[in-house]
Amino acid sequence: MSKSSAVPHHVAIVMDGNGRWATKRFLPRVAGHKKGVDALRACVRHCGDVGVKVLTVFAFSSENWNRPAEEVSGLMELLVMALGREVPQLQAEGVRIRFVGDRAALSDKVRAGLEHAEQITASNTRLVLNICFNYGGRWDVAQAAAGLAARGEAITEQSLDRAMALAYVPDPDLVIRTGGEMRISNFLLWQAAYSELYFSDRLWPDFDGAALDEAIAAYAGRERRFGRTSGQLDPPAGRKAA
Ligand code: FPP
Repeated sequence: MSKSSAVPHHVAIVMDGNGRWATKRFLPRVAGHKKGVDALRACVRHCGDVGVKVLTVFAFSSENWNRPAEEVSGLMELLVMALGREVPQLQAEGVRIRFVGDRAALSDKVRAGLEHAEQITASNTRLVLNICFNYGGRWDVAQAAAGLAARGEAITEQSLDRAMALAYVPDPDLVIRTGGEMRISNFLLWQAAYSELYFSDRLWPDFDGAALDEAIAAYAGRERRFGRTSGQLDPPAGRKAA
């Protein structure tokens, strides 16, 4: 059987369970998101250490605006605060930060924070950290199609693929969702067509390096067929070049 290469090039994560982590401790939900930033920092470091080249995380979905106003503003403030605090270290560790999502609805302050983080980390190459913020998979397909239509270009699988927000990286090899739910929740609908899916019962703040190693070990045991049969996999099916 053709095994996946041991370490996925691109890992994507739905960081679910912050709210429950906080509620279990009688804390406000935003406290769970704060703890989630700690888990994200550790995860970024671990990905760099084990050789993952691209990490994409779902930090705020197009639908998260429907949460209580206090949680939405808490997440916006947390983003700005976390960027101010974490970017110098991420910069030192060779992490390139990119934001993916609809920026138009964000405040000037949030937009300025994310643009600054992107600018100062732009030449880093060790790990790309894509932060999906005000992002939805359907939004991405729609914005790609609208862009092609506005330019009068034909809509094909290839042209749409090139117009998607994450066109600058190969599709995710492994998509992880923490928090015990088995849903895709409008994350990377286009790009995850052939990703291996891994669900963990751990709440995101409890997802540590050992848990990530378990996910990567599970991935390494999967057979990736990309629509072919097992017998056709020698040499193994490849992925798009980086
Ligand atoms: C889902 O958990 C998590 C989010 C909507 C936010 C994810 C954000 C972080 C991990 C912090 C990083 C944030 C920034 C700003 C970089 P949930 O709230 O749906 O948890 P629940 O399912 O237990 O309610």
